[in-house]
Amino acid sequence: MLNAMSAPQGQGPTFRELVVQALSSVERGYDLLSPKFDHTAYRTSASVLDSVTGALRPLGPFGSGLDVCCGTGAGMGVLRQVCRERITGVDFSAGMLAVGRARARAVPDAPRTDWVRADARALPFGPVFDLAVSFGAFGHFLPRERPGLFAQVRSVLRPSGRFAFPIVAPARPGSRPYWSLLAFDTAMRVRNAVWRPSFVMYYRTFRLGDVRKELIGAGFEVELRALEDLGRRVDGSPRCRLVVATRPV
Ligand SMILES: C[S@@+](CC[C@H](N)C(=O)[O-])C[C@H]1O[C@@H](n2cnc3c(N)ncnc32)[C@H](O)[C@@H]1O
Repeated sequence: MLNAMSAPQGQGPTFRELVVQALSSVERGYDLLSPKFDHTAYRTSASVLDSVTGALRPLGPFGSGLDVCCGTGAGMGVLRQVCRERITGVDFSAGMLAVGRARARAVPDAPRTDWVRADARALPFGPVFDLAVSFGAFGHFLPRERPGLFAQVRSVLRPSGRFAFPIVAPARPGSRPYWSLLAFDTAMRVRNAVWRPSFVMYYRTFRLGDVRKELIGAGFEVELRALEDLGRRVDGSPRCRLVVATRPV
């Protein structure tokens, strides 16, 4: 996400546009960014999406799927490959949904597809999904909001339904990514202390240990799968894991 300016010239947002977006609310910021979002590094990369698809295949096929904070539909491409009946993207940015909807029209043979505008903290669905996924959005939720968010996702899953998302290993203390993420989060905290509306986007608050406890607290059974095709760190641990949280029967 930090290299959002690395898109080919003319396609990604300008520095000025990024500043205007960052001074808006999250919802408004994404509305403004939506036409150029797919040319930024904020969109989840194809390698992560492919790896998650590969890890989900043996658990499926699934009936209906939900992409939580779908944006322009990165995770909808995953659902399309592992769900047979129906897929739904939910996001609170009308602009992001409009781009996703327009792109999806060009996809042949997709299962029935819906794009729903709603806040993920108050999902407007009953327990109708067999699989929920989410990519690249957890930094928009404060730690205290996560138990409620996870409870919402659980409430829209059928018994045995799964909630799956990738989680990247934290940057090694002292490494370049470590300092970049620390600098980004610090800048956001300063920005949010002095400017309204706030823009919640923190990289360092989504930690596996806390998340696991919160998922269990929300009533999930949790397992972790290494996403081997995304590699391992020098200490041998996976760079990225898939969290698979199951709603018990
Ligand atoms: C970085 S984008 C990720 C989009 C997409 N999942 C991807 O991986 O490319 C984060 C998305 O989360 C959405 N979002 C953030 N907070 C939300 C909330 N409370 N309810 C619904 N959507 C939210 C934003 O509108 C935005 O589309």
